[in-house]
Amino acid sequence: MAETIRSVRGINDVLPDENPAWARLERVASETFATYGYDRIRTPIMEHTPLFERGVGEATDIVEKEMYTFTDRSGDSLTLRPEGTAGVVRAGVEHGLFHNATQRFWYSGPMFRHERPQKGRYRQFHQFGVEAFGQAGPDVDIEQIAMSARLFARLGITGLELQLNTLGTPEERTAYRQALQTYFSTHRDRLDSDSLDRLDRNPLRILDSKNPDLADLIADAPTLDMHLSEASRNHFDTVCAGLTALGIDYRLNPRLVRGLDYYTRTVFEWVTTDLGSQDAVCSGGRFDGLVGRLGGHSTPATGFALGSERLIQLMEAQGVPGDDVAPHAYVIAADTIPSAEVTRIAEWLRDVLPSLRLRANAGGGSFKSQFKRADRCGARLALILGEAEVEAGRIGIKPLTDAREQTTVELADAPQQVTAWLDELALD
Ligand code: HAM
Repeated sequence: MAETIRSVRGINDVLPDENPAWARLERVASETFATYGYDRIRTPIMEHTPLFERGVGEATDIVEKEMYTFTDRSGDSLTLRPEGTAGVVRAGVEHGLFHNATQRFWYSGPMFRHERPQKGRYRQFHQFGVEAFGQAGPDVDIEQIAMSARLFARLGITGLELQLNTLGTPEERTAYRQALQTYFSTHRDRLDSDSLDRLDRNPLRILDSKNPDLADLIADAPTLDMHLSEASRNHFDTVCAGLTALGIDYRLNPRLVRGLDYYTRTVFEWVTTDLGSQDAVCSGGRFDGLVGRLGGHSTPATGFALGSERLIQLMEAQGVPGDDVAPHAYVIAADTIPSAEVTRIAEWLRDVLPSLRLRANAGGGSFKSQFKRADRCGARLALILGEAEVEAGRIGIKPLTDAREQTTVELADAPQQVTAWLDELALD
């Protein structure tokens, strides 16, 4: 036998048994985004490398260490998207979507980062994200956080903590950067190599360090507070007051700096204690400078992204059921019945009951083995085409989820009977 080829480390299959949870997340996310008037946008998973260098920021871990960058056959440097925001901005600028218009977009799909794989952290992972453009006021920050809270409530997830911070404007941050540089430089001997590396280029990221030896030093570091302008302070206070008015609890975390460079003012993360170290399930904030940095007219913007794998692990940890995606019914047929006849009946049922999930047996087999397959795929009803039934223009119906007896009905009555059975079984 030839040697098997395995999947790439950190890049996983999503097998059919995970479908119920994914289906629930996909349904709830798309319904919730629609509730707030967001339009779906689909951008490519590959972009020119400078988009991320300029968009996400040269001095970020993502750009420095984690991008899947390669030269294609035309000699262009391309990168598999490590996140969705830069691509959405690129598309909006390229197609003139931001001229005199506010826009609200959502997207979903795989992202790629060459990180060290562990539970909740993968090299290919999936996000659902939203981005709103053209609104500078704090109301849209509040609405997006409320939308994320509603999405978690609809999913059935509980116990998340909302962490909130403001990063001010780039000018305010420049002054803060200097204050941080001065502070950490005086404690240079206590810094680890990662933090020393960040000291000159991106000292804010030192605040993000997970090294416990630095915790005290970081706790005593200056905060952005004293460098904030009145306008930035008011923006943030309004966001906080708006959340309180909506009954959304939050914790102010002045150390929340985010790993991407484009943020301005509000940043937030929803974190859980149920998943271990990869605790952020949703992160985002305002990015007023990015459209300008990527060649568009200056346009305020704000957004967030959810990590699908982490949310699905959380649903499992909290016992949240997935959506029912199993077949409703499974067609079992005696092998003396011509397969064209079985197909004709199955197709007719699908014509009459368009939302019926109907799997027809394939590959013959005894009634016993066909019933086994029907059970295994999670179908609730078996529809049985025995020789006698077909001859008499009838069909057998047998619930698979309990011991009730099979009934036989006129084929013409089957759609109505199947619907009635499924309704009754759904109530059990
Ligand atoms: P991010 O914090 O880099 O932000 O990622 C958003 C979410 O994606 C995280 O909260 C986490 O749940 C999930 N995530 C990130 N990396 C991984 C990984 N390696 N494996 C599994 N899940 C992961 C962004 O990507 C921004 N584009 C969000 C945003 C949109 N900001 C404004 N608009």
